[in-house]
Amino acid sequence: MTSIAAWAAQQPSPGLQAPLSLDVLAEPWTLAPGESFDAVFCANMLHIAPWACCGALMRGAASWLAPQGLLITYGPYRVEGEPIADGNLSFDADLRARNPQWGIRWLHEVTNQANTAGLQLNHRLSMPANNQMLVFARRRQDA
Ligand SMILES: C[S@@+](CC[C@H](N)C(=O)[O-])C[C@H]1O[C@@H](n2cnc3c(N)ncnc32)[C@H](O)[C@@H]1O
Repeated sequence: MTSIAAWAAQQPSPGLQAPLSLDVLAEPWTLAPGESFDAVFCANMLHIAPWACCGALMRGAASWLAPQGLLITYGPYRVEGEPIADGNLSFDADLRARNPQWGIRWLHEVTNQANTAGLQLNHRLSMPANNQMLVFARRRQDA
């Protein structure tokens, strides 16, 4: 929160609101009654939070996104059939040693949670340092 506020102060914008604290597990999210969001961006949370946060993020985003809205997640993911980078392998071991509930998530398990919440993975982009950007939208039959 403090660093978000500091960045916002450095780059003021008329539409930019003050940061809010959100625990994704505190469902249902009560953020901005009557409003919906064009995008929800979640960086570096899924691997440094208990697995339950993944489903909670998906359900919360699905309930607050506008019909054409996007949920974008950023971070490291493991992908079946793709080799894991050495750096991510040791990062995963380090995370699990720090907290057994943490760890780099499997992409297919994340997308399963998304699907259950009514979202689908539309794009997967490679990012620097073995990170990936996942772009989810409402499942077509739910749009
Ligand atoms: C490594 S930090 C990433 C911070 C920032 N997003 C970034 O990329 O620099 C992990 C973040 O996961 C968040 N987090 C952990 N559990 C959470 C929860 N239940 N609800 C919301 N955020 C959570 C923490 O608050 C923390 O900001």
